[in-house]
Amino acid sequence: MRITGWTIALTACIMGTLAGVAPAQQSPTATTPAANATARPDSLRSTQAGVYTEAQAKRGAQTYAGFCQSCHTPSEHTGSAFNQSWNAHPLSDLFVYLYEKMPKDNPGTLDLNDAADVTAYLLKLNAMPAGTEELAGDSLALKKILIDTRSTRPTP
Ligand code: HEC
Repeated sequence: MRITGWTIALTACIMGTLAGVAPAQQSPTATTPAANATARPDSLRSTQAGVYTEAQAKRGAQTYAGFCQSCHTPSEHTGSAFNQSWNAHPLSDLFVYLYEKMPKDNPGTLDLNDAADVTAYLLKLNAMPAGTEELAGDSLALKKILIDTRSTRPTP
């Protein structure tokens, strides 16, 4: 075998370099790794950042009343049940689930905007703040938003 101390040192060095540039690679606007090495990737937001509007959540509540309340109650989608299913997931998981799987007796009824509205409503039910921009009915955009319920964080 020709694995020497030098090889190991070199490997460690390469690994270290890769780890150093990894955050820059997440940025869609990356030009050179050096230019972005210290830039905070703006590609990930949390649901605590105000990712839907009040008006949208209101529409979502109406959609919910029409399509969901025959089987569910709003409180079912809050607290530990919601945490266990969705906390730390990309918001696209919830959105796509609603879009593809609900209403259970008639999946495919919701269009993309309906699904985004209901997603906004579920965020509101979980006390996440509203903001100034509507949630897009677009799973790629929602992939960049992380569900953060705050309540399941380990205490330091
Ligand atoms: C006909 C009954 C029915 C209707 C209508 C219905 N659901 Fe469901 N839903 C279920 C069942 C049953 C489950 C449990 C999972 C399964 O069996 O697929 C579920 C699961 C869910 C979950 C996952 C629960 C979790 O772990 O967080 C969510 C969220 C949800 N439904 C939202 C909705 C929304 C929003 C609507 C309206 C657009 C809706 N459901 C309409 C029956 C229904």
